[in-house]
Amino acid sequence: MILIFAILASVNSWTQTASTVTTVKSSSAENRMFPVISPSSNDFKIMNKAVLASNGFGVKMFAFLRDFYPNFVFSPISISLMMALNLRASNGLTLQEIYDAMSFNESGFENIQEIQASFHAIGNYFLNNHSQDFGYFLSLINVLWINDGKLLNSKFLEDAKKYYHTQISGIDYGKGSSNVHTVIDKYLKQKAKNERLTCEIRKDEFDERMQITIVNGMSFSGFWGPGLSDKLDMIANFYSKGEFKIPTIFLQTTTTLNIVKVGKFSASIAQLSLLKVNGGKQLYMYVILPNSGVPIRKVEDLLIDNCHNIPKWFAKAKPKRVNLMIPKTFPKWSMNLDRLLPFLGVNSLFHKEDSELPFLSSFERLAVDKIYHESMIDVKTKGSFEYPTRFDGRLTTSHEGDKDTNIVNFIIDRPFLYLIMEEASQAIVFLGKIEVL
Ligand SMILES: *[C@@H]1O[C@H](CO)[C@@H](O)[C@H](O)[C@H]1NC(C)=O
Ligand SMILES: *[C@@H]1O[C@H](CO)[C@@H](O)[C@H](O)[C@H]1NC(C)=O
Repeated sequence: MILIFAILASVNSWTQTASTVTTVKSSSAENRMFPVISPSSNDFKIMNKAVLASNGFGVKMFAFLRDFYPNFVFSPISISLMMALNLRASNGLTLQEIYDAMSFNESGFENIQEIQASFHAIGNYFLNNHSQDFGYFLSLINVLWINDGKLLNSKFLEDAKKYYHTQISGIDYGKGSSNVHTVIDKYLKQKAKNERLTCEIRKDEFDERMQITIVNGMSFSGFWGPGLSDKLDMIANFYSKGEFKIPTIFLQTTTTLNIVKVGKFSASIAQLSLLKVNGGKQLYMYVILPNSGVPIRKVEDLLIDNCHNIPKWFAKAKPKRVNLMIPKTFPKWSMNLDRLLPFLGVNSLFHKEDSELPFLSSFERLAVDKIYHESMIDVKTKGSFEYPTRFDGRLTTSHEGDKDTNIVNFIIDRPFLYLIMEEASQAIVFLGKIEVL
């Protein structure tokens, strides 16, 4: 209670600076690059609470989604950054709902400025290194489309760009749905390496009553790391829902991996490295696979209670020779957060009668109509694409050590969970589940 009080008091410090006005126009859309700042150890300290909040929210969202969708994937870090900006815009009940739902209340923040500083550091960290020079492409997507002609506080627009890496653009909702689809499509194409908008957005109607649409997401495109890159394509059955055989393309290799058996939960977890070169970030995909015949539900409970422990378990893991089979492609997924977040307690943000977003506009009561979240993961092997040659690590080939008698099988042919985590920050970049192929 005291914490919330402090936060409401500190929000008031923004009021004085929020007096200048900017009118949104579609033509004023900006595509300037954000400044590049290299992270220091102090940045890690600052971003730590944002990582804690984001991972905490990720687990909460996971626990919610698993009851409704057989397959899903989302990016906690990207949603948290976007919601931190909504928090920056809000006051009163709207602020409190976001604060609690996003696990900001459990992450040790002392005031709202600290939330801003922490997410600013996260944004810098994840935006800096998305160049192909590092062997992968990682891009945070965050844009607010606001109906043309709305009066917005200039300070908010400045801060959205400066601290939250968010573009605020005008759009004329009065021109109808197909115009909106085209504008958003064009934007995503440019931001997410030619990814197309998923059908979720194209199903929706837009008209002149709309005020704010947020498009948020994370796009990753890269290669499996050394030792995993020489995979063979093969067709085998995936047991959808654990029982229905679906012929599926798998990648197969024999390699050395860190694997941990978690007996108590009847599951194994494998750590698969993703390629990085030069000063790139080390991302790992952790695949959590229930033992044969064990329901995935039981293993989900493991993830919900132990997400933070996964990197710790791997710090102790000994590398093993593994016969690995993994589905070749991961389905991409999008979700309407405006429909899902109310289940986690965020309500007033979406209702014109109750929303309190005075730091976005002190002239008019605005509410958010739609939030789309898109997650795109594309992991390639060597082959038709040019594989970067400057490895950080040692290259092992898939055939080395095949005669080893102690080979462990890790055959991902049944429902599994996965997360992609960035090693230095321990931030969960993606969290997903595949039950059906
Ligand atoms: C990318 O991140 C690494 C640390 O992970 C850092 O050393 C490097 O300077 C960053 N590159 C840029 C361009 O900021
Ligand atoms: C944070 O808010 C959530 C959602 O209202 C609540 O369940 C949780 O107990 C709160 N945590 C603390 C430490 O107050």
